[in-house]
Amino acid sequence: MEKCLFSSPGQAREALAAVGYITDEIAATVVHLAARLNKPILLEGPPGSGKTELAYAIAKATSTGVERLQCFEGINEEKAIGKFDEALQRLAVELRSKSAQIEWELLKQELHGLRFFSAGPLLRALQYPRRCVLLVDELDKVDQAFEAMLLELLSVWQLSIPKLGVIKAETVPFVILTSNEERRIGDPLRRRSFYLRIDHPTPQREARILRMRTPNQSAEFHRGMAGLAKALRGWSLEKPPSISEMLDLAQALEVLGEERITPEMRDILLPLLAKTEADRKKLLLRDGWASLVYDAQQYSAEAIEQ
Ligand SMILES: Nc1ncnc2c1ncn2[C@@H]1O[C@H](COP(=O)(O)OP(=O)(O)OP(=O)(O)O)[C@@H](O)[C@H]1O
Ligand SMILES: [Mg+2]
Repeated sequence: MEKCLFSSPGQAREALAAVGYITDEIAATVVHLAARLNKPILLEGPPGSGKTELAYAIAKATSTGVERLQCFEGINEEKAIGKFDEALQRLAVELRSKSAQIEWELLKQELHGLRFFSAGPLLRALQYPRRCVLLVDELDKVDQAFEAMLLELLSVWQLSIPKLGVIKAETVPFVILTSNEERRIGDPLRRRSFYLRIDHPTPQREARILRMRTPNQSAEFHRGMAGLAKALRGWSLEKPPSISEMLDLAQALEVLGEERITPEMRDILLPLLAKTEADRKKLLLRDGWASLVYDAQQYSAEAIEQ
């Protein structure tokens, strides 16, 4: 039997934390089960919530590699699976044609072998001697035809490539699919996957993430930042801050030598917090910022570790 990646949900959670990814019990359980049952995980959630990072954290925690397919509109199978290296094929033909006898049939066969194929991430993921993580990032950017091709791969763990033949998986990769929900991922893929929603973290979890990135700052600072994140997300902004933006803010404050956010800091911090004109206006409202700082202080109490 193929080696499982994690021994239990608790161990998965600890192993991920050890490589800097702070998750909760539910997500850790999904990761553990997906590893055991060879199920892809479909991750959906707001931008900057840690979807891509989870794939890298799983790979790091299990000392394996990541094959990443970054999706974009108009992506084709060549990009995803690979293509024959025509320059190399031509070179081989030129070299052989110098020798006296050429077995054309044999040469043709050889030219259509794996040695002359430059593999894309999907094919490479099937060729690992030890299970890797296959990250199909931002799957909502591709069209349905591409999704159907992927579905076949995830069902039978093999790829049929014209002229090359059928390539079966050496090991079944641990598949992470991410989506920002710009297009709805089809039901067949959903059925085959475990569905994990990553939403904004609780203040407690966010404070732990912040601590990981700005370890020299105080616990009070991390709680304050986590409280501010929650306050900002409750403000119906056009672009509420994600974890990664809060990390940027925490690092910026560290550079500025500030330990806490005060009502006087509004104008300096606005470029870091408001990413659209509408949000800027909202945060500039009279008393708006002061009440936000007040809310943030209230929420920071929620980040205290039990
Ligand atoms: N649970 C977490 N533990 C530690 N760091 C995290 C966590 N979640 C997010 N981060 C940090 O937040 C940043 C953004 O994460 P990531 O790039 O994975 O977001 P994403 O959901 O893929 O966003 P997008 O939809 O924009 O691609 C990264 O720097 C990551 O390290
Ligand atoms: Mg991402």
